[in-house]
Formats: sequence, C-alpha cells, structure tokens
Amino acid sequence: MLFHKTPYAANFRYPDRFKDGKIEIGNATLYAEVQAYEGEIYHIQVVSDELWTEDRNLVPLLPPAEIKGDGNLSVGDRFELSLRDSKGKILLETIKGMGFGICGKQSIFTFAYDKKMRFYGMGEKTFGRMELSHIRSRFWNVDALGDHPGQVWGEHSADPYYVSVPYLIVRQGNTYLGLLLHNPYETWVDTGTDPSFFGTEDQNRKIVLGAEDGMPSLWIIVGPSLAGLTRKLQKLVGVTPRPPLWSLGYHQCRWEYKGEQHLLDLDQRMTKHQIPNDGLWLDIDYMEGYRVFTYSKDAFPKGVPATLSKLQCSGRKVVPIIDPGVKLEKGFPMYEEGLKEGHFCLAPEGHPFVGFVWPGETVFPDFSKASVREWWAGYCRSFREQGFAGAWVDMNDPSTGAVDPYAMLFNDGKWSHGAFRNQYALGMQMATRDGFLKARPNERPFVLSRSGYTGTSRFAAIWTGDNVSNRFYLKGSITCSVSLGLSGIPFNGPDVGGFMNDTTEEIMVDWVKSGFLFPFFRNHSGGSHRRQEPWTFSKRGLGIITHYTQLRYKLLPYLYQLFVAQERDGDPILRPAQYHFPGGEMADDMFMVGPSILQAPCNDGTSKRQVKLPGKEWFDARWGKWVSGNLKVECGPIDTPLYFADKSIVPTLPGVRTDNSKDLRGVEFHIFLKDGGAEIQYTFDDGQTFDYQTGKESVLEVRAMLRNGALKVDTRLLNEGFGNLKSAKFFFYGDATEILLNGGVVKPKREKIVWTGLPISALTF
Ligand code: NOJ
Repeated sequence: MLFHKTPYAANFRYPDRFKDGKIEIGNATLYAEVQAYEGEIYHIQVVSDELWTEDRNLVPLLPPAEIKGDGNLSVGDRFELSLRDSKGKILLETIKGMGFGICGKQSIFTFAYDKKMRFYGMGEKTFGRMELSHIRSRFWNVDALGDHPGQVWGEHSADPYYVSVPYLIVRQGNTYLGLLLHNPYETWVDTGTDPSFFGTEDQNRKIVLGAEDGMPSLWIIVGPSLAGLTRKLQKLVGVTPRPPLWSLGYHQCRWEYKGEQHLLDLDQRMTKHQIPNDGLWLDIDYMEGYRVFTYSKDAFPKGVPATLSKLQCSGRKVVPIIDPGVKLEKGFPMYEEGLKEGHFCLAPEGHPFVGFVWPGETVFPDFSKASVREWWAGYCRSFREQGFAGAWVDMNDPSTGAVDPYAMLFNDGKWSHGAFRNQYALGMQMATRDGFLKARPNERPFVLSRSGYTGTSRFAAIWTGDNVSNRFYLKGSITCSVSLGLSGIPFNGPDVGGFMNDTTEEIMVDWVKSGFLFPFFRNHSGGSHRRQEPWTFSKRGLGIITHYTQLRYKLLPYLYQLFVAQERDGDPILRPAQYHFPGGEMADDMFMVGPSILQAPCNDGTSKRQVKLPGKEWFDARWGKWVSGNLKVECGPIDTPLYFADKSIVPTLPGVRTDNSKDLRGVEFHIFLKDGGAEIQYTFDDGQTFDYQTGKESVLEVRAMLRNGALKVDTRLLNEGFGNLKSAKFFFYGDATEILLNGGVVKPKREKIVWTGLPISALTF
C-alpha cells in the first residue's frame, strides 16, 4: 500500500438512479438506509448482497433517538446528499452526480469543496497544525516507528499513525459539521488536495471520504457550534468513563524498569524529592523472556505481591506493559492453550499467522472473537489479582516486526487483515478492561493503549506512541492531543520529554511546562537514550519539574471536574479557544484545559511569543494581573504563560502538594472574577469505585458575585451522597472592600501563592 497516494474519484462509478432506497450503479443494485436522529445527526449506510455483506464494527455507535423522515438532509435522484440549516441554506452537499461512488469494493463520498472551508479533527495525526486543509490522509493503524522509513522520523510528520479515527470536522464561519466514517477497514480523507501533485488542477479539489472495503457508513453531525458538535460526537462514539483519580497523577516510565529494584528506587527518590507520583511503569524487561503474562524471578525475587506490598505506604501503583504477541514456543502454556483452543489469528493456509515481536516468533490472539477476548480477560484478571493496578497495552497496531501483516486473518480465517486491523487494539482494550473488572468489579480500571479506533474512548486512554525528544514533537504534542480530543478520544497524552533520542534539560523542562495539565501525564523514554527522571537534571531543572508536577496535583480537583463533565456531557479535556470563544483561526501553539485555564507555552526554544487572548479579561497567573487582547509575552526560565478565565472558580487541593495524597473533600476554591458572577458545581467522590453511579457522590455549588467592590460567596450542597467537604478555603484574586461568605462578613487575609513564576497575592478566607 502506498501511504501517500489514495484512489482517485475518476476511477469510481456513480449512481445512475436512486429510488425507494435502491441505488442502481451499472449492473449493480445497492440499498441505502438514510436515518435521522435527534440533535441533527444523520446516518447513511449502503448495503449490498455481493460487495459488503455485513457490518464488521466490533462496537456499535450510540445514537440518540431516531426521528421520522430525513430531517434537513435531502437525497437526490442520483443519491446526492444535501444538508441544509433550518433556514434552508445549504451547509454541505455532495458533488452533483458523484456524491457516492464504488470501484470494486472501494467506496467514496465526495463533497463540494469551498476554499472558505476549514478542516479539523482526524484523530491522531502529526501534521503539527490544527487546521487540516489540503491533506490526503490514510487511516490504517501502524507501528509508526517500524512501518515508516527511518528518514521520516525526527522532524517530519508520519501518516498514517497508530490510531484511526476517520472523522473530519468541516467549519464554515462559525458553523461546524462532523463527518465520521464508521467503517473499520482502511479509510482515507482528502481535504481538497491537488490530485495532479503539481499545483495545476484547482478545479478538481474535493472533500473525499473513502474506504478500501467494508460497508459504507457515514455519519453526519451538525454542531452547529464546536462544543455542540464535539459533545454529540462523543456521545455517539461513547464517553470516557470516570477514571480512577490516581490515573490523573504523574507517571514515571522508562524502557528499562523491570522489577523490585527499580520500583523501590523510584519510590524512594520520588519521596525524597517531594515529587507527587502515582504510577510506576514496567516495560518489557519485567517478563520472563518477553513471554506475556509472566514475570521474571530476577525482577521479583519473592513474587509480584511481595514487591507491591512494599510500595503500599506511598500508595504508588504499578502498571506493567502487556503486548499481544504470544511467544511461539512449545511448552509455553499460554501458547499451547491458545493453539489448542484456536485463539490465534490464522494465515490463509489455516495455521496460526507468525510475526516477529520481542520474544522472536510470535502468534497473535484473535481479538475479533468474543471467546478470545474472554480468554485474554482471564489473564488480565490474574494480573490485577496479583496487585498490578493498570495495564499498558502496547504493540497492538498490531506490530509484526519485519513481517508483512496482510496474511494475518481474523475470525477463524474468514476475515481479511483489513477487516479488523484498525480494530485490533480496540478488541484488546475491551478484553483487558474486562479482565480488570472481573478481578475488581467495583474498581475503575485504567488501561493505556498505543493504537485505537473510534470507540476506544470507552475502554482505554491513548498515549501518542514513539515521539522524539525534539521541538517538532514537543510543539506537535499540542495539535495532536487537542485534535484527538475533538475526535472523541479525550484521555490522551504524549511521552513527556520524548521517547527517542537524548532529551535535553531545555526540552524536558519545556515539555513539562507545556504538558503538565494534559489529560495523561507520563515521562517515558527509550532505554538506550539519556535518562530523564526528574533528578537526572540540574538542581534547577529538578526544581522546575517538581514545581509543575506539584501544581498538577494541586489542580487535580479541577482536572477531575473535567473528566466528570466528559462522562456526563462529552466535553474534551483539552480544547482550542474556539470551543468557548467562537471566531478566529485555531492556534497551533495555545490551548485551553477545560473552560477556565488557557496555556500558551513557549515551545519553540525562544523566550518571546505572541498570545492572542480570546474574549475579554484573563487573569495572568504569572504576574497576578488582569490582561486582555493581543499580548507580547516573555517566557522566563521557570514560568510559563498561563491564564485563568474571568468568571471562573477553580477547585484545587490545599497548599503545595509534596506527595500523592488527594482527598477531594479538602479543597481550595480560587475565584477569578473581575466583576459580576461566577459559579461552579464541584463534584467529589471516592475517586476509585463505581459507587458514584449509585449516588455516592456529592456536589457542592459555589456562587460568587462581585459588585461595587463587595464580594458575596454562597455555598450549597446540592447532593451529599459522599458527605460534606472536610475543609474549604477561598482565594480571591482582586480587591474587595467587603466579603460575605454564606451571609456572614469575613475578615480576609493576604496570602502569597505561586502558580507559574513568581508568588502572587490573593485574599483568602
Ligand atoms: C514500543 C512502545 O511504543 C514504547 O513505549 C515501549 O517502550 C517499547 N515498545 C518497548 O516495550
């Protein structure tokens, strides 16, 4: 397959007629189902007795209630689609006569392109920009490092990447639409590229969403706002269940950590340096000869439970890597068992397909089968029972080393490689999560995965694979993670510091400053490169990394609210400013964390930058003053531009966080209010079980009103399923002549607080 070329519209055949659900194309008759759902969501599916006989999606989507009729979508007599707004204005239409086409088993939808359109989304891409005009991109899960030529690595984007979410956001003015291909086969999207390659064929530009095979299935979602669109998409593909609170902490990883010695050493150093840390991760060396679900006696002399019990007082969790490839070895019980039960993917000749991963020749569990997922879940269950707190599922693209993967068939050899490849990781995520749930039914599991597909959000978080310790990947981590969030995978983050090559103190420090509030925050590096644990840098570097890690822990209650909102409403964690402030182009170097925080890090190695603040007033957390508009800012060595939105109340843990304790019942509320009102509904629970689903959560409403210099703060417990707060303290960033808390006058004190940079002053009560 040629990753940089895609099938061409002229080679497809288009409907001669469409009537009563029947599409006639030459001698073929296809059947179309067009459905409309509440909230202006549409689904177009084409069925054929010969070409695509079944929907091969492992996880169905979750549309809202269906409505009668086609809503604002009309279908022409050659199966052209045309979507209008409520006033009858066309929002999007397919190209006359060639809206839908087939070429053998390939299918395409082609939409009219307009140069005023803007494009976003596409899941996990490394183009380094939010806006994706004139891009031709494939969706085919790869082991990016293994499947792209080495030259691509370093400073270039590689496409396709690990995760496939063929979802395109089309923006016209401030109206946003989403186009999602829900087809697990290899797909591609073209956002108006020049097919000639030579810059001459402007009139041929089109928006194309195509598939190499598989039942054509297109979802069209009308925002019309970006927030409206993203919430609808997220509900459709499935929200991320509330994660365990520990998974939002700081994670330390390196391809080298293998067992007790490393774990105890890391544990001790984290405590010594007062670096809050929840996750210690084991890479492949903990296994016995890279055999999955084994561990070496060397690494754990008295067994895993004995080692893990030594970490219990610090509360740190240990997360082992789990690869899908099972060592092909006579006598290895998992191999023998899988072979006997027919659990492995087959080659066309009927024997298990053999690839090459860490242990040498390997065979691959066929996650397309429920029985195999069940089998795998049993192993995961026993890992959880031994004390491992989460699972890191890697190489699930699936990676087969130097072996061409196309002979790997699924579903007992009945499905081609393309039918399931993009869902392989999804199947592994489902089985892994299930195994953890079997071990501890009332504990929220945490699974981190490399590859993924639409629907991954329900089962696992994503880390963005093997990046490089350089500014290209540091800068690109913003656009990659924000785009993933807009595409329905909100829980994600990069290897902080970079995985490949030697990091430097400057890169590491900038990455921590830029990424300390990303949904997932893990320092990971390749074993042959420079070490990058915080204490391997200068005293000053260590101090900065520690400060931002402590700041993340301080802000955990705020981050947690974002995950609560994700599960309830579908909002992503990271978002572009346009999510809250419509208008303008999306910035590649600036992002919001929830509705209240905006970050504009200096990631390009210079100390000066422009920050275009959207809306009105922002509180500059570095200098403690209100700012607005277009600013020229300087980034000092220890600070980073971070702003709180006016009318925000941000819940945090108290004081400076020097360990990983995080009781959500002791909080500070930071009130950023220039004038007028602000409010928050602060949700808290035990942070680890599903008890919140049966009412064991509490919600405290905090309302603040500032008028003529008088601040009134009122609190009210809306729900007390998890009891009341143990302590609450308020911080107000401004001057007030009088402060009333729940009707009583309070005498505030002045206190200094360091967000990013120098201490700033606030009134506390
Ligand atoms: C590939 C993963 O992307 C990387 O994070 C990991 O360290 C190596 N596999 C070794 O397991």
